[in-house]
Amino acid sequence: MIIIKNGTIVTESESYFSDIMIENNIISCIGANLFNDNAEIIDASGMYVIPGAVDVHTHMDLQAGNNRSIDDFYTGTVAAVCGGTTSIVDHVAFGPRNCALRHQIDKYHELANGKAVIDYGFHGVIQHVNDEVLSEMESLAKEGISSFKIYMTYDFKLDDASILKVLKKAKELGVIIAVHAENNDVINDLRENYVSNGLLETIYHAKSRPDHCEAEAISRVLHLAALAGDAPIYIVHISTEKGLDEIKKARAQGQKNIFAETCTQYLTMTDEKYFEPGNNGLKYVMSPPLRQKSDVDALWKGVQDGEIDVIATDHCSFNFKGDKEKGINDFTKCPNGAPGVAERLMVIFSEGVMEKKISINRCIELLCTKPAKIYGLYPKKGSLNPKSDADVTIINPNLEYTLTRSMLRGAVDYTCFEGIELKGKIDTVIQNGKVVYKNDDFFGKKGDGKFIKRRVMEQ
Ligand code: URP
Ligand code: ZN
Ligand code: ZN
Repeated sequence: MIIIKNGTIVTESESYFSDIMIENNIISCIGANLFNDNAEIIDASGMYVIPGAVDVHTHMDLQAGNNRSIDDFYTGTVAAVCGGTTSIVDHVAFGPRNCALRHQIDKYHELANGKAVIDYGFHGVIQHVNDEVLSEMESLAKEGISSFKIYMTYDFKLDDASILKVLKKAKELGVIIAVHAENNDVINDLRENYVSNGLLETIYHAKSRPDHCEAEAISRVLHLAALAGDAPIYIVHISTEKGLDEIKKARAQGQKNIFAETCTQYLTMTDEKYFEPGNNGLKYVMSPPLRQKSDVDALWKGVQDGEIDVIATDHCSFNFKGDKEKGINDFTKCPNGAPGVAERLMVIFSEGVMEKKISINRCIELLCTKPAKIYGLYPKKGSLNPKSDADVTIINPNLEYTLTRSMLRGAVDYTCFEGIELKGKIDTVIQNGKVVYKNDDFFGKKGDGKFIKRRVMEQ
């Protein structure tokens, strides 16, 4: 048994002084002056006690072409939990052409089982559409895979007719379709033009994926979702003002069941990063790319006014040495993706809450509660209620420090946030009733994380 005493408990809607008692992996009681002779006492005086954060966009152990991301489900979830994140929902990689929908889910159970130190779920990936795939959506939803990703770019992009079929099925089942929205043909054409003209520096990664490509694809898929009767649709990693405007427009026209995600990096960095000396710009090669200051500002506004529902990470880590460096002479050779699962809570707490852009309650909503609600994890995850899983993160807001790679766990050899000055530090993390992080030490156990069977949306 654990009792956390004297802290400020923070949820998405309130902040108050109270103690929390944890028994048998569950929050058993919240109240003043809790006491038990047998309890381990954690003193949280002067600190915030928040729900363990939930990251619904990670890519652990991802095979992408010839590249494999460096964090597997062990190192990636150690990185996560030491950064205050106690559950993830991972986007599985593409499988072989024409494979069953179940193929990659089975594979990911093998990859995560016995390795993850925190609880995890999977989004399925739909890489072609036929009657079998549509009926597998139903059987997998019954097994706790209540969301599926589709791509509008990359090798296994879906055409519009296929997307419409998937969205209609999603509406029928109450599952959510997560969408990577970028206009594939325009991107490919721009890339080919840059490459054939010898324009191969890192910045051309960003130039070949302009904001209109994101906005056009978001607009198109929102129209398809409307055509499918307001099918539940979740746009991942929104990076542009234009893209967010499409969401606002659809909502203003009355379209329902639209969810919007951005990621830490799109709120904190611009495309100037691509010019960092020493080929460091390659560290930020991700899709969509980093954007302009005006986009960063528009996304923060969306975070403030409620148009953005979730801040996730799109954690997809490749080492700089050996992996990202493949792009030194040609940006198209650089594996796409960047780490972030360890940094998200610290960076958003510091840049958002401590810099007074958002309240701490809104921060909890964006990083813990809303992602858990949208993806069928709530109220076990993402909240501090009696009977919730005992996943708790304690933040000390009084500590200031400079973030460096050496402070982070995980396998990857860099952080995009090297040298950033942060206000507020993760003090303690409790995962399923056990203290797994305290005083900069990790105490978790490989394989302690369990698969989370997620619910479909209530209709
Ligand atoms: O560049 C990125 N984001 N890589 C991961 C896959 C994706 O598109 O989300
Ligand atoms: Zn994506
Ligand atoms: Zn992703």
